[in-house]
Amino acid sequence: MFVIGSGGRHLEGELRKLGGEILSVELKKFPDGEKYVRILGSGKEVTVVSSTFAPQDEKIVELLLLGDALREKGFKKLRAVVPYLAYSRQDRVTKEGEPISVRAVMRALGLYYDELYVFDIHNPETLRFFPGKAVNVSPARVIANYFRKKLDDGIVLAPDRGALGRARAVAEELGLEYSHFEKRRVSPTEVEIRPVDINVQNKNVLIVDDIISTGGTMIKAAGILRKLGARKIFVGVTHGVFVEGAIEKVNKAVDELAVTNTIPTSVSRISIVPEILLL
Ligand code: R5P
Repeated sequence: MFVIGSGGRHLEGELRKLGGEILSVELKKFPDGEKYVRILGSGKEVTVVSSTFAPQDEKIVELLLLGDALREKGFKKLRAVVPYLAYSRQDRVTKEGEPISVRAVMRALGLYYDELYVFDIHNPETLRFFPGKAVNVSPARVIANYFRKKLDDGIVLAPDRGALGRARAVAEELGLEYSHFEKRRVSPTEVEIRPVDINVQNKNVLIVDDIISTGGTMIKAAGILRKLGARKIFVGVTHGVFVEGAIEKVNKAVDELAVTNTIPTSVSRISIVPEILLL
């Protein structure tokens, strides 16, 4: 049984269609902006689905209120499926005096939820901050399925070494080669960025990553691939955070941009709902 928070409304129709049972809740805001939630059904176990895209803070507070209300109503086991977990990139202290923000969010959710499921978290090591069972769900299967027909003889690339595992997972689903971009110093003054040990000339390329924010990473990677003679450039990313104007810029630089619907955007063409139903 699912409870749909405000960050999960865009997933509700498909969840229902594919057989998910939804528990009714009332979600609204008080005139001063504070959130109000009320659980209208009952039960023992439930999975709350809510992604924490902007405005992030109010969706996080709503998850806490839902957790509190569900416990109050006697639910014994609570699972939170948070497809995009806000603050997950703030995973270390870079200047003295800063918090580890993702830890604060996970600890707060841990006050109410027994299990936490997050899609393609920026740094999987941060899952240890959640006090209960925490799972990083891979979108590799749904991303691979979306691009399967367009990539018969293609290559999967990660924009940097850190994302290589993502490229590998998608490539293995598709039975394709994979690699990553790397900076190489070619002279004391020159740095070259190119895919490592792989020839992209005349090949279709799928670039995968966890997040597109400004689009800078993807635009740079696409520019390099064009110069190296790649045929078609596809981008398949998990979270379309997209700051103002980023969708248009990336769309111009590549042949096709598709992200999953962990965040609803105009290019969220890949659904994670089948994966939620498997959890
Ligand atoms: C970086 O570590 C992430 O994996 C993404 O590559 C990054 O957040 C993308 O940001 P942008 O779209 O602003 O280049």
